[in-house]
Amino acid sequence: MNSLLLALETSCDETAIAVLRGRELLASEVASQVEAHRPYGGVVPEVASRQHLWRAPRLLERAVAAAEISLGEVDAFAATSGPGLASSLMIGASLAKGLALGFGKPYLAINHLEGHLLSPFFPGEGEIFPNVSLIVSGGHTLLVAVDGVGAYQIIGRTVDDAAGEAFDKVGKMLGLGYPGGPEIERCAAQGDPARFALPRSMMNSGDSNFSFSGLKTAVRYLLPKTSGENRADLCASFQRAVVEVLVAKTIAAARAAKRALITVSGGVSCNWELRRQMSLGCERAGFELRFAAPALCTDNAAMIGFAAQLRLDRGESTPLTAEIDPNLALV
Ligand code: KG4
Ligand code: ZN
Repeated sequence: MNSLLLALETSCDETAIAVLRGRELLASEVASQVEAHRPYGGVVPEVASRQHLWRAPRLLERAVAAAEISLGEVDAFAATSGPGLASSLMIGASLAKGLALGFGKPYLAINHLEGHLLSPFFPGEGEIFPNVSLIVSGGHTLLVAVDGVGAYQIIGRTVDDAAGEAFDKVGKMLGLGYPGGPEIERCAAQGDPARFALPRSMMNSGDSNFSFSGLKTAVRYLLPKTSGENRADLCASFQRAVVEVLVAKTIAAARAAKRALITVSGGVSCNWELRRQMSLGCERAGFELRFAAPALCTDNAAMIGFAAQLRLDRGESTPLTAEIDPNLALV
């Protein structure tokens, strides 16, 4: 129950290492690669894997020092094994396997989506209450009915772009820089969300799926009408459109799935407009709500360590022969 665990997360462009003793977080180090990818306006897989390769050993030293432990004390090593970029996943998983082999300790391969999904329960005792979980990141927009660790049922997903991807693409169109999410949020703070009428795609589709590519195209058509002056209005209107759909469909899905609790995680859940509107919506509709802590919304290794601890408690471990899987599904 109180195992000392070291977890690595290298699925995309953040190199991250965390150390946990049981449910207690001793260290969580994230080395952001944003500056390395910024000139390209998006993540370049080749650049990401090289960055992981040289950052990971240094970060390992930093995490071990911050946690005030020695590697020999660690009871288990975990890493994200998918989904993500193959050449990035490989670095973290190989390092974790090497450490597990070298120290003769178990290895745990963790699904990145499960890390996000469980993150609203961390820190905590590790009891995962039944909920409907919205995962909104750069790569995924998923609604999942959750009944406990490993008891997941996908009830909705995006049929095209992920919500974070839409933020990033619109940010790029508006020349706001990378990543687009935080830039759009910053710009939207000065804008009028009612200034531009933008589509709420699939709002009444009768299912729990999402679509954001039409919204992105609608913004593209408005570009000729945009100037420095009303750019903030366009950002605010776009952000409002994404948030309204996420809130309405998540609440409808929780109602249909008869869960009293809604949880929200992933990079886009850093967004304060989403946090505000989801809180208001849940209060009105009578749902309990848990967000991942802001530091755990974007990619980090603490969430991977938490998921690994829960799996370790169930007596699980992963053979060292297990491969990474860039397309790994949640279920
Ligand atoms: O979870 P994450 O770090 O990586 C993936 O697993 O994809 O999410 C990154 C995504 C990016 O698309 C980024 O633009 C978005 O999260 N994001 C935001 C905000 N902060 C990050 N989107 C909207 N508002 C934000 N404040
Ligand atoms: Zn992620």
